[in-house]
Amino acid sequence: MSGHGATGLLVRNSQSYAFLRAGRKPNPLVADAVNLLDDKHGRALDIGAGPLNNTRFLLDAGFSVDAIDTDPFFLSLASALNNRRLNAVLADIRNAWIAPDAYSLIVAIHILPFLPRADLPWIMSSIVDGLAKNGILCCTFFGVRDSWAQRGRRMIFLSRSEISPFLTGLKQIEFSELVYDGADAQNRPKHWNIFRCILRK
Ligand SMILES: C[S@@+](CC[C@H](N)C(=O)[O-])C[C@H]1O[C@@H](n2cnc3c(N)ncnc32)[C@H](O)[C@@H]1O
Repeated sequence: MSGHGATGLLVRNSQSYAFLRAGRKPNPLVADAVNLLDDKHGRALDIGAGPLNNTRFLLDAGFSVDAIDTDPFFLSLASALNNRRLNAVLADIRNAWIAPDAYSLIVAIHILPFLPRADLPWIMSSIVDGLAKNGILCCTFFGVRDSWAQRGRRMIFLSRSEISPFLTGLKQIEFSELVYDGADAQNRPKHWNIFRCILRK
C-alpha cells in the first residue's frame, strides 16, 4: 500500500480487510443512498469504514464524514487522505456515542454481521436515533444462506423477518436480498447471501 499525505508512517497488516480492499470503488448501495439526498453537504457516519472506499466517495460528494473502525490500518489510510472534512476514529462502534439526530446519512456496509449478536439491537437503535429527520440509513446484513453461516462462523446471519424489527419506524426504500457466488476479500470462493437496505427516517 502506498500513499502518504499527512504522514510518512503507515501501519501494515496484510490480513486486514482495509489493507486488502483499499483503493476500490464504493459499494453501489452507498451511491444509491447518496442520490436520494438533495443536500450533499451534510454530515455522514461510516461505521466499519475499513478501506475508506465508501468514505472517500462521501467526501467527494461533499459530505463531512465521521468514520470509525477498529483496524489501525484504517487510520493510516485516513491520514493519507488528508481531508479536513474527515474525522477518523479508531474505536469499536460499541464504545462510541452516536449523537441523536446528527447525521443526514449513516452507512454500515458489511459491519453489522461482525458484531456480537446481543449488541445488535441496541446498536441499531442508536444508529436510528443518530439519523436526522429525513436522514438515510444504508446498511447490509448477511443472510442465513451465506456460506460463512453454513461453516458455523460466529457472526450474525439473519432472515428477512429477523431483520425487519430493526427497521421499525423507518421508511423502506430498498430491502432486497442478493444470493450469488463470488469471492471473499482474500479471493477465496464464497457463496454470498446479503440483504441490502436503504431506509429513510
Ligand atoms: C468487511 S469490512 C467492511 C468495510 C467497509 N464498510 C466496506 O464496505 O468496504 C468490516 C470492517 O468493520 C470493522 N469492524 C468490525 N467490527 C467492528 C466494530 N465493533 N467497530 C468498528 N469497526 C468494526 C473491521 O475492522 C472492518 O474494517
